[in-house]
Amino acid sequence: MSRVDKFNPLAKGSAIDQKRDSLRGGTSGKAVMSEPQFDEIRRDAINFGLATDVLYPMSAGKEASIFLALWNTHPIILKAYRLWATPHKLSTTKGHIRESSGKKTRWILGLIEDIAVAEFDILQNCYNAGVRVPTPISRVANYLTMRFIGDEETPAPQLREVALQDPEAVLNEIFDQYLLMYRDAHYVHGDLSAYNILWWRNKPWIIDVPQSEAVNKWSDMNKVELVLRRDICNVLRYFESYGIERDSEQILNIFLDAYIPENLRNYRELRKEGLELL
Ligand SMILES: Nc1ncnc2c1ncn2[C@@H]1O[C@H](COP(=O)(O)OP(=O)(O)OP(=O)(O)O)[C@@H](O)[C@H]1O
Ligand SMILES: [Mg+2]
Repeated sequence: MSRVDKFNPLAKGSAIDQKRDSLRGGTSGKAVMSEPQFDEIRRDAINFGLATDVLYPMSAGKEASIFLALWNTHPIILKAYRLWATPHKLSTTKGHIRESSGKKTRWILGLIEDIAVAEFDILQNCYNAGVRVPTPISRVANYLTMRFIGDEETPAPQLREVALQDPEAVLNEIFDQYLLMYRDAHYVHGDLSAYNILWWRNKPWIIDVPQSEAVNKWSDMNKVELVLRRDICNVLRYFESYGIERDSEQILNIFLDAYIPENLRNYRELRKEGLELL
């Protein structure tokens, strides 16, 4: 379960959680989502110095909403992570924790902020490694801003919405970008698909990275391999509509040949012997 899903109150819990929840009429103390109001978000973004104006919502995902905002005359993206609060200690003023708030509320608010922190850091590390991601601009609490991909008239469409002239070249370019992200920035994306790639001026842009995980000496390489394989297969699935067939295992091996943390190089042999990596 991703870091984001783990704290998503809309995600179904275990069978025991669901049973307990139904017995208590859905009030078992699980976090509830407080829908962010546009005016509140706009006020926060301006007060926090993240934008000079917020124009309109562009998309509302499970965990975050995306807004078109302005920094003076320049369009930028404002991503606002939803705040969840426990029903009994509901913090009424978003972004502020009441004096009387319990540890749990504070903990949950902290976790939401952690997701925004993670997304900002990942974007920054990818950007520094030369991956084509929206340039991160700033972050305060559960809000972050980044470069808007698009122009005055239109935002960049998702890859799945466009008809590509040269799909083979685009597929290669996407894997080149993902390889940069993996080999140089040391992340697996975790949700790469034709939804989370934008297409702008003949280039793919990788977006939506909060669930990405760092690949370092503490990683579980078996899990890294699974995530890489899933991302590669998701991208390949989209390109099947263009009649393109590629061997996902061969691509996976190109990634793994390019980078495995020094101390984990033998993870496949250890797996064969049935030994667990620490
Ligand atoms: N930097 C950007 N420039 C232009 N459009 C963007 C940008 N970032 C996000 N968008 C638009 O907003 C949509 C949602 O963004 P993103 O995937 O980051 O948010 P999300 O809430 O995690 O989405 P979901 O849960 O639906 O995957 C994108 O598919 C894209 O259309
Ligand atoms: Mg998305």
